[in-house]
Amino acid sequence: MSHPLEQLRDDAQREIAGASDEKALEAVRVRYLGRNGTISAWGEQMKTLGQEEKPIVGKLLNQVRNALTSALDQASEKFRAQKESETLAHIDISLPGTPAERGSLHPLTQMLERGIQIFRRMGFALADGPDIETEWHCFDALNTPADHPARNEQDTFYLPDGRLLRTHTSTVQIRTMQSAAPPIRVIAPGAAYRRDEVDATHSAQFHQIEGLYVDQSVSVADLKGTLEFFMRELFGADTAVRFRPHYFPFTEPSFEIDVKSKALKGGERWIEVAGSGMVHPAVFEEVNKARGDDAYDPEKWTGFAFGLGMDRLAMILFDIPDIRLFAQNDLRFLKQFA
Ligand code: DAH
Repeated sequence: MSHPLEQLRDDAQREIAGASDEKALEAVRVRYLGRNGTISAWGEQMKTLGQEEKPIVGKLLNQVRNALTSALDQASEKFRAQKESETLAHIDISLPGTPAERGSLHPLTQMLERGIQIFRRMGFALADGPDIETEWHCFDALNTPADHPARNEQDTFYLPDGRLLRTHTSTVQIRTMQSAAPPIRVIAPGAAYRRDEVDATHSAQFHQIEGLYVDQSVSVADLKGTLEFFMRELFGADTAVRFRPHYFPFTEPSFEIDVKSKALKGGERWIEVAGSGMVHPAVFEEVNKARGDDAYDPEKWTGFAFGLGMDRLAMILFDIPDIRLFAQNDLRFLKQFA
């Protein structure tokens, strides 16, 4: 004769096998294994059994509970798999998928990286400074006091506390010399700002690579050699480079640099791409004053500096007609440089 628990198990298994959906299956589970279910009731009843019967019935009860739990799990897994294949049956796997759009670097970023690579090969290290600057770093320390006419040409945006958006990356020259003694060989790529009328060649924000080389007996020949090499690496070996005398408060002598190359659209025309010169002794003196030492003794150290207009270089190299395109986020433009 079989034990009533075995009878119970057989009934439950029949019901599980007969359940037509998940809801019916859940009802079976509650009826047998739920808190008020039959199996739980047997658990309660165990307390009333005698010492001899207890372990036998206990063991049987466990076996029945395990058998039912696993039968329920199997049945519910069957329903889940059925549901999944029904859903998949409605998907047309032969349809093409959504293509993943791949981004690319902005043409100005590409230009800056190319420039940085060339200077790195010549042993220049990267230096950095903030876009929001003190008036002293942007002007006074660069031999451009408050009443200097050169300040008119570099009008900018001022913060209420008197700080300003730097008009050039030359500020990083000062910051570098404040924190390190010579020799120095750095470049500083970054944004600069001016309150100019915005047009095809002027933008309120533009980009420069600043360079500074300070050592013993650095001369104009070093300046010329370095920048000629740079321009030829960038624009091709037959690029002509011209150093045109100019004025900057922070260099003496000073030059503007023009390039001309058949490889470039607009070919046989000189195009201005940079300012440069030999660091003015007054700049070294001002740095010494701020440092409180004589590290940049102008009798001992000389240096050259330059500032390259990166937007201009990118416009020449990639044949871009309007500087405003860089900031318009027009994918039809940007995708041409992917
Ligand atoms: N800061 C100048 C400008 O933005 C460019 C420049 C000229 C930088 C001469 C220099 C330099 O370092 O020596 O117009």
